[in-house]
Amino acid sequence: YVIGIDLGTSAVKVLLVDKNGTVAGEASRSYPLFHEHTGWSEQRADDWVEGTVEALRELTSAAGIDAGKIEGISFSGQMHGLVLLDGDGNPIRNAILWNDTRTTGQCRDIEQKLGDKLLSITRNPALEGFTLPKILWVRENEPEAFAKAKLFLLPKDYLRYRLTGELHMDYSDAAGTLLLDVAGKAWSGEVLEAFELPASFCPPLVESHGLVGNLLPEFIESTGLPATTKVFAGGADNACGAIGSGILSEGLTLCSIGTSGVILSYENDKSKDFAGKVHFFNHGKEDSFYVMGVTLAAGYSLSWFKKTFAPNESFDQLLEGVGGVKPGAGGLLFTPYLVGERTPHPDSVIRASFIGIDGSHERIHFARAVMEGITFSLNESVDMFRKAGKKVDTIISIGGGAQNPVWLQMQADIFDAKVVSLANEQGPGLGAAMLAAYGSEWFESLEACADKFVKHAESYSPNPEAVAAYAGIFNVYQQVYEQTKSLNE
Ligand code: XUL
Repeated sequence: YVIGIDLGTSAVKVLLVDKNGTVAGEASRSYPLFHEHTGWSEQRADDWVEGTVEALRELTSAAGIDAGKIEGISFSGQMHGLVLLDGDGNPIRNAILWNDTRTTGQCRDIEQKLGDKLLSITRNPALEGFTLPKILWVRENEPEAFAKAKLFLLPKDYLRYRLTGELHMDYSDAAGTLLLDVAGKAWSGEVLEAFELPASFCPPLVESHGLVGNLLPEFIESTGLPATTKVFAGGADNACGAIGSGILSEGLTLCSIGTSGVILSYENDKSKDFAGKVHFFNHGKEDSFYVMGVTLAAGYSLSWFKKTFAPNESFDQLLEGVGGVKPGAGGLLFTPYLVGERTPHPDSVIRASFIGIDGSHERIHFARAVMEGITFSLNESVDMFRKAGKKVDTIISIGGGAQNPVWLQMQADIFDAKVVSLANEQGPGLGAAMLAAYGSEWFESLEACADKFVKHAESYSPNPEAVAAYAGIFNVYQQVYEQTKSLNE
């Protein structure tokens, strides 16, 4: 067996996976989020460690599991979160998470100080969620605490450090810090110097499948894992989600609709230019990359609609008959900017709209329009990928958006690509387990591992008539942002 540990924002989930890629057991533990002020989002780093140890203990002691057969473990982690360590290796304050938005001022400072170098070195815009702005915030606002800080880690790297005593960070997670030369795969001396941070502030970099050590004796006892368990570095949750869905070669794209939505495409070419409009990160597969666009309110838009207009019904009831409404929802158009947008408009102020309401429209038209609007927003990322020269011909669809066949066909029609759902979707935890399987030399490549572990279910081909109808509506959709911006300014 191998174990994939998915360290998420609300919970840690551990997956026990056998040599066929079958999940033989799973366990999870949740932990609190602290929002001391509006826009703040923190967690206690040791809650992650305690939750993981408990979940591993539950997994290894489950009936019928021979824990002695566990060969390796690896990690998928929530990205960008800042853990600052003192000289003794203890956290000096709570971790500041990816969804914390206190750092707008620091982002503007970074843009000003780095100018064009921000994009040429880090390949990404300065966003509040990223790690460098958080480091600068602590230095400016909590100088006494910062004076004790000797090194920073990301969430899953802290967890792994506690389990092994070894300090590392992998490229896919380091890519979200704004301190990495993404194409050069090294900490950027230029960026560190610009912000007067010593090189010793950054941990050694490793590949995601890299072996980083073994468990410390106390954790062999508390987790029930064998002393021989090999620990592999692991990767960012989006990279692991891509691995766990088999996004490991050019032409493959992932569409993940959860609360937020992600369009992620494999990229081989480190010099491909997306003008900073999408995220460009190192993949968990050696020497490769991915580009990613984010829709903030994807599944959230549909949950909001249900909560507001059908609070006592299930999603199945809400969407019953949605396939009977033709593409275009009878002229009704929705933009999903309920909490602002990220791609292609990094704008926290813009708000959503319904346009084209007809007296004959019923709730089902609105439900269909919401699904279409979410998919149009994701299609803006697909569109940008294509305009930058990427081939987007097969899209693996996961998350809530893959639960409904009408939505899967709608994705094929709006994206104008083949859309494929997965048989045993496990997300980032499976990607982490695959890194451990590959690291343990079960397979000669991650691709060979994916061939065995990632199982396709249904495939949906674009319907030319619907593709043409949606292309016209998408054109109108793209104009709504500019035209409605001033409503909420
Ligand atoms: C990516 C991002 C999120 C987190 C969630 O840029 O902020 O997807 O990784 O864990």
